[in-house]
Amino acid sequence: MKALVLSGGSGTRLRPLSHTMPKQLVPIANKPVLAYGLEAIRDAGITEVGLVVGERIEDIREMVGDGSRYGLEVTYIPQEAPLGLAHAVVIARDFLGDDDFLMYLGDNVVLDGIDELVRHFRENPSDAQVTVHPADPREGGLAVLDADGRVTAVEEKPKNPTSNLALMGIYVFTPSIHEAVRSIPPSARGELEITDAIGWLIDKGYDVQGRLYQGFWRDAGLIDSLLECNQAVLDLVGPRIAGKVDDDTEVIGRVVIEAGATVTRSRLVGPLVIGPEAIVDGSYLGPYTSVGEQCVIEDATVEYSIVMDRAVIRDVRGIHGSLIGRATTVRTAGPAKGGHRLVLGDNCQISLV
Ligand code: TTP
Repeated sequence: MKALVLSGGSGTRLRPLSHTMPKQLVPIANKPVLAYGLEAIRDAGITEVGLVVGERIEDIREMVGDGSRYGLEVTYIPQEAPLGLAHAVVIARDFLGDDDFLMYLGDNVVLDGIDELVRHFRENPSDAQVTVHPADPREGGLAVLDADGRVTAVEEKPKNPTSNLALMGIYVFTPSIHEAVRSIPPSARGELEITDAIGWLIDKGYDVQGRLYQGFWRDAGLIDSLLECNQAVLDLVGPRIAGKVDDDTEVIGRVVIEAGATVTRSRLVGPLVIGPEAIVDGSYLGPYTSVGEQCVIEDATVEYSIVMDRAVIRDVRGIHGSLIGRATTVRTAGPAKGGHRLVLGDNCQISLV
């Protein structure tokens, strides 16, 4: 079985971060979102991966390379524009040949493996297998299953959901999907929808099965779900202190401090991770915080947040539930100035108290 991993898209719901980085590279506990998917695929015993990429192909290539660092053989499949999940299947036809394949949306994070999903398909072959999770289906898609687990209907971003089963971005397809993706018209938003292709299979009488995923899953294409992923991963890591911590620092709970990082005069309450060569001084870092490589945090308090590489936070209290992009500076203006000075790019979200 091959895997087709979708790592293009426009990421409009993750602006402004997605203006400067593909959403699949946003770090969760200092590891890119996409790495979680690639590792899950490898752990399920699949090595041949077709990676669908858009205009940010070079960023993705820098992270994934030829796939060998993840134990995979990766073939890049450039998509000229984000024309839909089913369009990605159309352009991957040569790579896929007539093999069954696992389709994995690169912004999905699962923490409990996908080997059971693959094994179930192998032991109970059907024409297609979708994965469902009990969750609000309005942001993604919905599936309706009968008592035998057969999918009787799917719907994209339903306004009035008729089931509580959200479609996850993990599917197993047989070659029957190729006729489906060629037969459907683009949707109202101009995309070839995978839900329409699955609906086509159902209408033609193909056997589409739904498999319930019991473990942790989030579509990390939304700010809140990125923070929830960060929380869930940090619950699993540490403690490990490879960096320097001075005697005036208190470390409580599971804390990871990577080599080359320096923490002085601070209070760290885990679970949290501090990346290589970061500097933390006179600060409080609270639970579920990830601090990236070479960040500088001085006289600040931060909790439940993702602070990306090279960001600087100085003299700011009460940062919570925040995503701070690479090389961003957050600081107070000093007593003489008064007011807030904000230099922000497009589509930023600032909440001031
Ligand atoms: P989506 O989250 O459905 O789409 P998007 O990335 O355009 O995001 P938004 O809705 O916020 O604008 O995409 C799911 C995954 O599939 C994600 O990893 C991006 C990828 N993708 C492609 O590779 N090609 C495409 O044409 C689309 C639509 C998505």
